[in-house]
Amino acid sequence: MAHEPTHPSFDFTDKARGYSELAQSLESLLAGERNWVANLANTAALIYHALPDLNWAGFYLIGTSATDAATKELILGPFQGKTACVRIAIGKGVCGTAALTRETQLVADVHAFPGHIACDSASNSEIVIPLIHDSGPRRGELVGVLDLDSPRLGRFDEEDQKGLERLVAILLAASH
Ligand code: SME
Repeated sequence: MAHEPTHPSFDFTDKARGYSELAQSLESLLAGERNWVANLANTAALIYHALPDLNWAGFYLIGTSATDAATKELILGPFQGKTACVRIAIGKGVCGTAALTRETQLVADVHAFPGHIACDSASNSEIVIPLIHDSGPRRGELVGVLDLDSPRLGRFDEEDQKGLERLVAILLAASH
C-alpha cells in the first residue's frame, strides 16, 4: 500500500460527501492488508482525525471473561482518545446494548441513557455500531462494536449512522 504521508482532510459540511470520501480513503488505507489489529487501529485513527467533534473513537471486541471462560464480554480494542474502561458486559451501557441487540445505538444525550458507562466525562453523545460479518465463513458472527463519543449533544444523526455502517462493512470485508 502506498501510505499517504499526511492525514487527508475531509469536509463534513456535506455529510454524505464527507462519508463517501472517507469510505474511499478507508478502502485504500486497508487495501492489501488483512491483519485485524492493524486494520482496527488504522480505522480508529482515520475516523478520529477525520470527523469533527469527537473525543473518543475505537473498538470493543468480543472476548472471554477474565473470571469465566464460558462468558463472553466486550474488551477494549484499538482506539484514539483518553484511556477507557477495559471490560463491558454484553447488555451493559451503550456498547453492551449494541452487542446484545446487534443494532446501532444512536444516543443524543448519554446522560439520559439508562446504564450509560461514563469513561470520559467530556462525552455527551455517542453512537455504537455492531461489527457483524455479513459474508464469508464467519457470516452472522458479532465480533465487536465501533464506539464514537462526542462532547456535543446530538452530534450523531442517521446520516452518520449510514456513513459509519458503510465504514464498518469496508473494515470487515478487508479483514476476513
Ligand atoms: N460509554 C460507553 C463506554 C465506552 S466509552 O464511551 C469509551 C458505554 O456506555 O458503553
